[in-house]
Order: sequence, then structure tokens, then C-alpha cells
Amino acid sequence: MKNRLARIIKPYNNRALMLAVDHGYFLGPTEKLETPRNVIAPLLKYCDSLMLTRGIQRTSVPTNTNVPMVLRVSGGTSIIGEDLSQENITVSIQDAINLNASALAMSIFVGSKYEYQTISNLGKLVNEAHQYGMPVLAVTAVGKDLGKDARYLSLACRIAAEQGAHIVKTYYCNDFEKVVQSCPVPIIVAGGKKIPEQDALQLTHNAISGGAVGVDMGRNIWQSEHPIAMIRAVRSIVHGNSNVEQAYDMYKQQSDKHAKKDTPDSKDSANHKSQEQKK
Ligand code: R5P
Repeated sequence: MKNRLARIIKPYNNRALMLAVDHGYFLGPTEKLETPRNVIAPLLKYCDSLMLTRGIQRTSVPTNTNVPMVLRVSGGTSIIGEDLSQENITVSIQDAINLNASALAMSIFVGSKYEYQTISNLGKLVNEAHQYGMPVLAVTAVGKDLGKDARYLSLACRIAAEQGAHIVKTYYCNDFEKVVQSCPVPIIVAGGKKIPEQDALQLTHNAISGGAVGVDMGRNIWQSEHPIAMIRAVRSIVHGNSNVEQAYDMYKQQSDKHAKKDTPDSKDSANHKSQEQKK
């Protein structure tokens, strides 16, 4: 369990950069994620872990990667269906182990019509996963009629932790520190809908400053005009302690570079990583 968690939240600084590419499980071919293989490959070297479904892992991730997989195991609804909150567990623990998952992820819909079903599923998943030393990440999904305020998110995060979740994914909000303080397990912040790059970097910085271990970001990376530049800028905040200005400067510099040359040269990327480790 600890070994798996250490793959996701780096023990040397207690930080995590998770790249989310699981959106298709209810959104279908999400804009700019239509061909996941093309999106994932160039970003892999910059993330600590990948949040995805088994279908995407099997079809669109190089099998020889050593990036840990946070496997989404809940689903069953679609964006055009009746109620997004009616999720169930759709992946067996055996299949998750077969895929060498480092953690399982599922959504709970606190305050929704299917609150009972999703919260009790979380408890059952933790029961099963615990037997195999498998961490569970609970996603505090927010229904249409529920706000993303500290009172609601504190309730949802705390309930997830009480059910035994090892990590909780939630949204950044005003008074975010209160959400963190009342949740006894690490919190990771979802990126949310695409916003301007500088704003997404501000969100990342706010989340870390507010006590999150990191971000689980998808659309604000791969829907950016320059996904590699963006993930590197986000990484510089999560692991390099950059401020927003420094990170945005990095984004602009890397954007110019990648505009000229589509693929990053591996030497530069290795240099970046070694500089980051020194920090
Ligand atoms: C939502 O539950 C999805 O699982 C995504 O993983 C999550 O929202 C993070 O992605 P984004 O940064 O695009 O919001």
C-alpha cells in the first residue's frame, strides 16, 4: 500500500502531478482527447501518474512505460443519459491488478440522488482493495445543483476519507484550507474546465499553497494550444516551487520552442528534471 502510494505522491516532497485522461468514460471523444494515444505519449515523461480507464490504458498507453496508473473503476453513465450520479463499480480488482494499477479511482456523488449507492460502493471498494494493498482515490464529483464551496466540499471529502479513501480528489474553492484541514488524507485538486493558462497556473499554485499535495489536471493541459509547455509549467509549480509568474514565463518560453519544434528534445527534458531534483 505504502509503496503504491509513494509512486503517486512523491515521498521526497509529498507532491503529486497526475495527468487526467479518463474523461471519455462519460464524455466520449472529448475535445482534443479524440485520439488519446497521440495526446498521452508526449506528456508521459512530465507527469508522476496517469488517471485513466482500462480501455485507454490497453489501447493508448505504451506498455513499456513506468508511469504509475490510477485506474478509474467507476462508470455506467453518459453525458446524454438521465443522471450522471448513478455510477457503479465496473472493473474487477483482478483486472486492476492485471493492469498493474497503482491505485483505483471512483466517484462519489454526495448530495445527489445516488449518494447512498456511490458512497457505499466506495466503502466496498476499499474493503476489497485493502486485501491487495491497493490504494483508493475518491473523486468528489459535483452534481449540477451542488455548489463547489468549502462547506459542501469539506463534507464530501471528509465522508470519502471516513469510508477509507487514501487520497481524495476535489475542487479548489474559497477557504480551501478548511477543506484540507478537515480531511485526514491527502487532497489532490482537479483542474476543471479549460481556462486561460495563467489562470490554470494560479489555480495550481493556490491549491498547493492551500495544502493540496498536487493537481490531477486534464483539460487545462491537453486542451492548451501547447500541452507540453503547459504540463512543464504546472510541474514547475508542483515540484519546482515556482511562483505563477515564473511558471507562466516558462509556459511562454516552452510554447515558443515547441511552436518551432513539435517534439521536445529529450536532452532538454532530462536537464529540466535534474534541475528540478536539485531544487
Ligand atoms: C472527472 O472526474 C475526471 O475524472 C477528471 O479526471 C478530472 O475532472 C480531472 O480532469 P480536469 O482537469 O479536466 O477536470
